[in-house]
Amino acid sequence: MPYIDLKCLPRHVAIVMDGNGRWAQQAGQPRTEGHRRGADAVRRTVEACRRLGIPALTLYAFSEQNWSRPPAEIASLMALLRDYLVAEHDDILRHRICLRAVGRTGRLPFFVRQVLDPLVRQSRAHDGMVLSLALSYGGREEIVDAVRHMAKQVAKGKLDPSHIDETMLASHLPSHAPGPVDLLIRTGGEKRLSNFMLWGAAYAELHFSSVMWPDFSETELHRAIIAYQQRERRFGAVGVDGAAHSSDPSRDSESSGNPRGMVLTPAALVTHA
Ligand code: FPP
Repeated sequence: MPYIDLKCLPRHVAIVMDGNGRWAQQAGQPRTEGHRRGADAVRRTVEACRRLGIPALTLYAFSEQNWSRPPAEIASLMALLRDYLVAEHDDILRHRICLRAVGRTGRLPFFVRQVLDPLVRQSRAHDGMVLSLALSYGGREEIVDAVRHMAKQVAKGKLDPSHIDETMLASHLPSHAPGPVDLLIRTGGEKRLSNFMLWGAAYAELHFSSVMWPDFSETELHRAIIAYQQRERRFGAVGVDGAAHSSDPSRDSESSGNPRGMVLTPAALVTHA
C-alpha cells in the first residue's frame, strides 16, 4: 500500500460532499438522517485534514441551487449547520483554525448567522488550517458578483478596465483566498463539478469516490491524497520525468503545504482498508 508523502500534500483540498440522500435511502432512513450523518463526516474530515497538516479545506455545504429543496430539508440542513458550529466552536478556537464562509451568506437564516459571523470574526487571524464552508455558494454566482463589483469600480472611474487581469479577478473571489484548489474530491459516485470552485479548480486534480458522504472516512481521504500524489501536474506545460506533482505557476510560493517533511504511515489504510 503506498504511503502519503507529507512533503507533497495538496495545499488546498475542496470537497463536494454528495450522497447524503442516497445513503439515507439505502439505510431506510429519512434524508435528514443522511445529512446528520454527513455532519459527523464533516467533523471527521476536518480533523483528519488538520492532523495531516493540509493548509486549506473548502467544503461544499450548501449551494445556491440547494435553496430549491423542500423547506423542511433546508430547515434541517440549517439546524445541522448551526449545531455543528456550536459544537465545534471551542475546537476551532483551540486548534487555531481560521473559519471562513464563502457564498451569498446574507441569504442564511439569522439563527445560523448568529453563530457563524462571530466565529468567523474570532478566528480570522488564526494561523492553523483554513476551513472554508461554501454556504449558499455557486461558482458562477461568485464570478458574477466579482465582475459586478469591478464594473462598479470602472463606472466610478476608480478602475481602468485594461488593468483587469486574472490576478485581479481572483482577488475578488472569496473562495480563492486560500489559493487555487489542488485536489477536488467528490463523493457519491457522480462525476461533475456542480458549480463548485469554478475558478479555483481550473487546474485541480479531480478525485471521484463512489462512497456516500456519510461513509467518508480518514481512509478515503488518504486514498484520495495518495491518488493525487501519483498524478503528474503539468499546468499546460510539458511534463518533467517522474514529477508526481509540480507547482501551480499562479501560486506565489513553491513551498510544500506541510513543513514537517516526513512520510506518514497510513495507519488507517492498513487497519481499516
Ligand atoms: C449533498 O447530498 C449534500 C448536501 C446538499 C448538504 C451537505 C451537508 C452536510 C454534509 C451536513 C451539514 C454540513 C455541515 C458543514 C455541518 P444530497 O442530499 O444531494 O445527496 P443525494 O445526491 O444522495 O440526494
